[in-house]
Amino acid sequence: MGPGPSMVAPSVLQALGKPVLGHLDPEFVKMMEELKTMLRLVFQTNNEMTFPVSGTGSAGMEFCFVNLVEPGDEVVIGVNGVFGTRMVDVAERCGAVVTRVDAEWGRIVEPQQIADALKKVAKPKVVAVVHAETSTGALTPVEEISKLARDAGALFLLDAVTSLGGCPVRTDDWNVDAIYSGTQKCLSCPPGLSPVSLSPRALETAARRKKKVQSWYLDVNLLASYWGQDRVYHHTAPISMNYGLHEALRLALEEGLAARFERHRLMHERLKNGLATLGLSIVSQAGHQLWQLNAVGVPAGADEAALRRRLLQEYSIEVGAGLGPLKGKITRIGLMGETAREENVDRVLSALGAALR
Ligand SMILES: Cc1ncc(COP(=O)(O)O)c(C=O)c1O
Repeated sequence: MGPGPSMVAPSVLQALGKPVLGHLDPEFVKMMEELKTMLRLVFQTNNEMTFPVSGTGSAGMEFCFVNLVEPGDEVVIGVNGVFGTRMVDVAERCGAVVTRVDAEWGRIVEPQQIADALKKVAKPKVVAVVHAETSTGALTPVEEISKLARDAGALFLLDAVTSLGGCPVRTDDWNVDAIYSGTQKCLSCPPGLSPVSLSPRALETAARRKKKVQSWYLDVNLLASYWGQDRVYHHTAPISMNYGLHEALRLALEEGLAARFERHRLMHERLKNGLATLGLSIVSQAGHQLWQLNAVGVPAGADEAALRRRLLQEYSIEVGAGLGPLKGKITRIGLMGETAREENVDRVLSALGAALR
């Protein structure tokens, strides 16, 4: 019940154990097509270039930046936690001139902040934000920010590692040009793949670069030959991980996205109500709290690390620590994918109550 990896359904674990096919085997190629189709449904996009990057969520982050950013490009990044901070690092490694837009950890990045920053940037190439900041539990609304990016002639890049599969992510409706996620959060698959999607505008940007993409492994122009119709060998795809993701996506679509989001919302409300009876509350910005990651304020005088240790050792429940400025002040309770079930919410509430007493 931490910030990921989340619990994994038995059928996904079974899929991981199936016999390994070759990465160009016709059966595997058929599965690749199904993966792309299911990912398009989950990302709510028609983008042709929608597929799982081989690597965890951070590989997806790198994939988006390395393909779109060239040295000297101006990039505006919202930072309200660990992962916005990481985006800045990744963009700078690509040679970007970054304008950081900082918000207090636990709060959202406000569109007005992005608008103000854009006024000071001559030719923004990319505007990037984290949708669901896992380190703080805040969900930044992105429609307005996306519009600001487009009006400024920039591409809009979104981190959906924790949001995808747990709350609405409307890639096409929101005009997102580059989006990445991870398998181990609300898709409830083990860590190892990073679903991504690039709009035609983003693909064109990557194709028209002045210089080659500095990462051979993550160059979309090369990966397109493997994941597209040509099926040219690029790297050996992690076959078993793709089986696992296939089954996890099948389960998500069988449940239905709307029903899945509603389950996450209801479990968050159940947790929030139970916390109130223990005198506890969620400390991220009211009205923008994530359903799938709950930042619970630790009462004054309680030792957060000891509380977490106790939950793990006495109740076999893993929750997450606060990071950066929130270290020692919050405990992060994940209700992602398979974990977002009544029995888990009730169990963590009763364990928390006992451990605090
Ligand atoms: C919002 C967000 N972005 C990026 C990442 C990086 O993903 P990974 O740890 O799978 O590389 C995480 C991981 O927790 C995350 O929560």
